Amino acid sequence: MKNPYGKLMMLGVAASIAFLGACAPGGGGGGVDETTPEGAAFLYRQAVMRVAAGKMAPIGAMARGEVPVDEAVFAKNVNDLVAAAGMITEGFGADVSNAPAGSAALPEIWTNMDDFNERADNMLNAAMELARAVEDGGFAAGQGLVQSTAGNCGACHRSYRQRDE
Ligand code: HEC
Repeated sequence: MKNPYGKLMMLGVAASIAFLGACAPGGGGGGVDETTPEGAAFLYRQAVMRVAAGKMAPIGAMARGEVPVDEAVFAKNVNDLVAAAGMITEGFGADVSNAPAGSAALPEIWTNMDDFNERADNMLNAAMELARAVEDGGFAAGQGLVQSTAGNCGACHRSYRQRDE
């Protein structure tokens, strides 16, 4: 069977690699000791973030009209984004506040845990609202919510992710 997602996934991956190149000080997480709780948490949240970016990119591209609308692909990506958003806080427990070298997580995450968790909640709620709209009214109902959903990524990064300069 032909995989209908293949091309979009590649687009998403390409977009997130470009994004990562620009934004991730740590790069691939090489050299991180994954046997420590802090190292494992870092690799886990990096993976979750890459999935989130790999979903957000094709969702955004379709919403902006850069790729043809495919209802099934859009709905799947939106539902996958909800799943990824729901996994964010698990990578930032109180016990893993000592982020390894290469992590872009700022220490303020762990001194403002309530605010950080609230931003993660906002992300999840926005993604769920988008998913509900898409379930009810398809792409047309979700398109207008994409930008505000994506705004939650930056809203957290601005305060809690180290800038790559
Ligand atoms: C609640 C806060 C929060 C939200 C919401 C959030 N991020 Fe992140 N993100 C972070 C933090 C903190 C890091 C740095 C993690 C680290 O390096 O330890 C990060 C890192 C990343 C990275 C770099 C991963 C790597 O390979 O090092 C990408 C890409 C990314 N986020 C994409 C997204 C996208 C896309 C969204 C929205 C769909 C999003 N993030 C939502 C906090 C957040």
